[in-house]
Amino acid sequence: MTDMNLPQDSGLNALLASAHTLKGRSLLTLLELTQEEMFLLVSLARALKLEKRAWKRGAALRPRRLDGKSLALIFEKASTRTRCSFLVAAQDEGAFAETFGKGDIHLGAKEDIADTARVLSRFFDGIEFRGFEHATVEALARHATVPVWNGLTDEHHPTQALADILTLQEEFGDLAGRRVVYLGDAGNNTCASLMLACAMAGIDFVMAAPEDYAPRADLLGKAMDFASRSGGRVSLATDPFQAVRGACALYTDVWVSMGEEQKPHARAKVEDLRPYQVTSHLMTATGRQDTIFLHCLPAHKGFDVTEDVFESAASRVFEQAENRLHTIKALMLATLR
Ligand code: CP
Ligand code: NVA
Repeated sequence: MTDMNLPQDSGLNALLASAHTLKGRSLLTLLELTQEEMFLLVSLARALKLEKRAWKRGAALRPRRLDGKSLALIFEKASTRTRCSFLVAAQDEGAFAETFGKGDIHLGAKEDIADTARVLSRFFDGIEFRGFEHATVEALARHATVPVWNGLTDEHHPTQALADILTLQEEFGDLAGRRVVYLGDAGNNTCASLMLACAMAGIDFVMAAPEDYAPRADLLGKAMDFASRSGGRVSLATDPFQAVRGACALYTDVWVSMGEEQKPHARAKVEDLRPYQVTSHLMTATGRQDTIFLHCLPAHKGFDVTEDVFESAASRVFEQAENRLHTIKALMLATLR
């Protein structure tokens, strides 16, 4: 199927054409995107979501815009949504994708990262990496000659934040000035990327967390710079009930991230973060009827969020999970075509 066969009203062709600035580029953190590029990827994802709905019901042909492309998906850490998103996005667009778990390839063990990056670039058109050290994905990108996508490291989770912005836009339209509150471990990967995305989007982004769980100072500074240009706001609060007032979305993540479970501080962290659990009382304390609940998932119900909020009508977590597919597909198409 060529682009000519797309529904006339989808705007997809124009969005794909506008995405040419992303061609050949990697995505390691949201710091690499301009505000325009971030919104472009999200708009492209929205159009791709509509397009997929159309071809699933037989109203359009399935596109194969990545026919003949091959993708390497590397997972040092477990993944459900990110892995499925890359695999299904590749399948939808006619690309071949192979996943590699820890120990499947020599990366960083019998072969240094630079050599693995150069070898994989001879076989594959794009490389996704999920793992521990952010320096690993940076090294892969430095030595690869194809785009490298960060599927989560200890420090950043950029593809998650793209899906989060899409989910917020679907719910509220224009996001400028809206308050989004993240509760829990504000020092983790999900919060770092969400903070940068919200700051770029002009959102009033509040992180409710104990002082010891703040984001890295340099990332906070970057987010504040973005916010000063977008008209947004980035702030930290320790009182969850005050922080959530006026919020259109409450967002949380697990309190103990992958790789932290066995660390000595894990137990203390759970106790420190307990006051930041998203409960129905906190949802009510926003003072709004339309507040939604977001979570990157997987959730640790009874800890970061109560079961009733997770299962409530305000919960958009499964829409958010599905949006991982459409945003990752947008990123693939923009960087590979
Ligand atoms: N949110 C997210 O990245 O989910 P997975 O760990 O299942 O990929
Ligand atoms: N902060 C979590 C996100 C999981 C998607 C982790 O790193 O485990």
